Amino acid sequence: MKQHTADPGQDMSTGQPERLFSGPIGTEYQMLDLICPAAAAMSKRVGSSVAVLPANAAERPHALRVFEIGCGTGRTTLELLESREDLVIRAADNEPAMLDQARANLSQPMRQGRVQLIEADALSALRELPPGSQDVVASAYTVHNFLETYRDQVLSEIFRVLRPGGIFVNGDRYALDDTAEHTRLTQEEVRGYFKAFSAISRLDLLEQWVLHLFSDESADHIMRLSPSLTKMRGIGFDPVEVHFRDGVNTLLTAIKPAV
Ligand SMILES: C[S@@+](CC[C@H](N)C(=O)[O-])C[C@H]1O[C@@H](n2cnc3c(N)ncnc32)[C@H](O)[C@@H]1O
Repeated sequence: MKQHTADPGQDMSTGQPERLFSGPIGTEYQMLDLICPAAAAMSKRVGSSVAVLPANAAERPHALRVFEIGCGTGRTTLELLESREDLVIRAADNEPAMLDQARANLSQPMRQGRVQLIEADALSALRELPPGSQDVVASAYTVHNFLETYRDQVLSEIFRVLRPGGIFVNGDRYALDDTAEHTRLTQEEVRGYFKAFSAISRLDLLEQWVLHLFSDESADHIMRLSPSLTKMRGIGFDPVEVHFRDGVNTLLTAIKPAV
């Protein structure tokens, strides 16, 4: 029988979605910037992608309805909110430690009714939404964490909840199709982890992030670019486009065709 380690993930024999951000990775999430400076820029890119979308004229008052998958501490949520005034966001995350930070970072827009935070895993939260109810589904660095079987269901649910003409914007880690080049990049990345965390004497974080990377890179999680694009097109998204690619860091959009 296939075994999954419990740390930092979860025994998948429970059938529950994994919680990979429950330890120090989550409580000290800002440390990500030491090892992935691309993340902050990607949050901005997700915000900018939504900024250029046409308003939803059918909505009264005009508002773009956005569902965010894995809001974490709210960094990408803030970029989305700053990108335009006419959007309201439902943001889901299944990690209480991340949501605590999101509540602190998003207190003002939450008071203004522009953001609602939901403690739930992505698939359950999407299943709660009526079909065609969202103009935008947005996410940053979350979908790659999913087990592939779970991710496939999430992608189908994204398609279902989007209105015709609605858009999925994902800034994420998509593995290179060239496996040898991907391995080389991953080794370089691990070297960067050692450098960054040794410099601040945080071998505990080094251990956690290396374990996390093992999960991302494992056969049942890894999200490679070309198969992912093919999968989205197979679900019915058209067009599916890559707008930015630097190593694994990728911004893509997938549109649910208007009828
Ligand atoms: C790498 S963080 C990215 C956070 C945020 N999107 C950002 O741009 O900073 C990934 C987030 O996804 C959340 N997450 C992972 N798996 C999830 C799932 N199945 N459902 C909901 N959230 C999930 C984690 O708790 C974490 O907060």
